[in-house]
Amino acid sequence: MKIQKFKKRIGLIGFGCVGQGLYDIVAANPHLGLEIGRICVKDKDKPRTLPAAAFTFDVQEVLQDTSLDILAELISEPDEALKIIRAALQQGKTIVSANKKVIAENLPEFISLQQRYGGVLLYEASVCGSIPILRTLEAYYGSEPLLEVRGVLNGSSNYILSKLHQEKVGYAAALEQAQALGFAEADPALDVEGIDALHKLCIVAAHAYGLLVHPSQVLHFGISHITAEAIDLADAVGARIKLVGTIRSDNAGNVSLQVIPTLVVAEDALYDVEAEFNGVEVNAQFAGQQFLKGRGAGSHPTGSAVWADISAAVRGYRYTYPKLCVTNASVVQPEEPITVLLHAPQSLTALLGSLQPIAVHKTEVSNQVIVKVQQEKLLEHQELLKEQGVFVAHLPESMPLAPVLEKFTAVTALLV
Ligand SMILES: NC(=O)c1ccc[n+]([C@@H]2O[C@H](COP(=O)([O-])OP(=O)(O)OC[C@H]3O[C@@H](n4cnc5c(N)ncnc54)[C@H](OP(=O)(O)O)[C@@H]3O)[C@@H](O)[C@H]2O)c1
Repeated sequence: MKIQKFKKRIGLIGFGCVGQGLYDIVAANPHLGLEIGRICVKDKDKPRTLPAAAFTFDVQEVLQDTSLDILAELISEPDEALKIIRAALQQGKTIVSANKKVIAENLPEFISLQQRYGGVLLYEASVCGSIPILRTLEAYYGSEPLLEVRGVLNGSSNYILSKLHQEKVGYAAALEQAQALGFAEADPALDVEGIDALHKLCIVAAHAYGLLVHPSQVLHFGISHITAEAIDLADAVGARIKLVGTIRSDNAGNVSLQVIPTLVVAEDALYDVEAEFNGVEVNAQFAGQQFLKGRGAGSHPTGSAVWADISAAVRGYRYTYPKLCVTNASVVQPEEPITVLLHAPQSLTALLGSLQPIAVHKTEVSNQVIVKVQQEKLLEHQELLKEQGVFVAHLPESMPLAPVLEKFTAVTALLV
């Protein structure tokens, strides 16, 4: 057995929430053969927890330092992060990242750079913080066909939804609390518009189904237009609204993706994923259902995922994307209609004309309807729905519509 004599040196780029978390973990475990060799940050005037001499402000000093064994890209600027990851891979280096936006939007390029130059890119921390979902999908489910992967993938949206259900605070106050606690991204729109969850879902699709899906192809709604009435409706039927990302394959092996607020019932594993926690349910053809739950964000939980990637890379681990070469699947918009709750700040008449629903149920709340609609119509008009401030929530097929409607005495069913 080969014994490692020297510590592997990490070039740390970014020393914010996650970078500091990684630093703390590495510093607390000096016996494990890792050390932070160099740290790059941006702001020269910011007070730091380490002496000024520990930092550089020139990323090239880290990228060109041949004494570093591995790089950790943990910065908050996606454009700069893309340049750093690209430059590292073009030099055949090993780099880990937590940046879901950059990974989701550039994965095909990153895979081809790794193949061409022999470098390694790992990014477990980019999906669900501390939950080891990517390595589970790669290593354990690398062969088995998956029927569905779904989850609560965004901690700050989930924190806000928990507050709305439990404390009946307003949306703005709940968002402020999420930001104060450091759960929200620098740009909270990424969280509350469902974009962060969308990025994570696209990354999961590569490992779970071997599909490289660009985020722009996927139906996604967030929670920014949520209303107290929608929360009340969910409460009245014993459900909780969760922002759920789903990848599902049909009998023909075609795969659909969506991110949408969903009424989740108590029997559902996602029901008890509360506050900043994330949860992912994997439904495999032979293994059946499995569920992982954990902290989706935060300094040490996310730092722990980065640390796990660094340790794995040091031991020679790399993603093999086992399903990428064998998949015949393509991304489709499912043909069957779905039932959604729509609540708008103004009349929905014109929008319903565009959506051409199969059925419309009015509730006693004005401008709130439950409609059955083709998913491709939702995709086609998703920007219009968002522009008009409409809150959209999915009522899953497992939740029978009749009991939902019975809770609303004034509900009328209008067939269109
Ligand atoms: N926070 C979480 O819980 C969490 C969870 C999962 C994934 N992530 C991802 O992890 C990454 C880092 O997030 P964070 O929360 O740690 O961000 P953060 O607290 O805002 O810290 C960002 C760090 O990046 C540095 N930075 C920004 N632009 C830079 C540049 N051009 N060159 C060098 N350094 C630069 C900043 O430098 P200064 O210190 O000088 O400002 C700061 O140290 C993001 O991609 C985020 O999406 C975060």
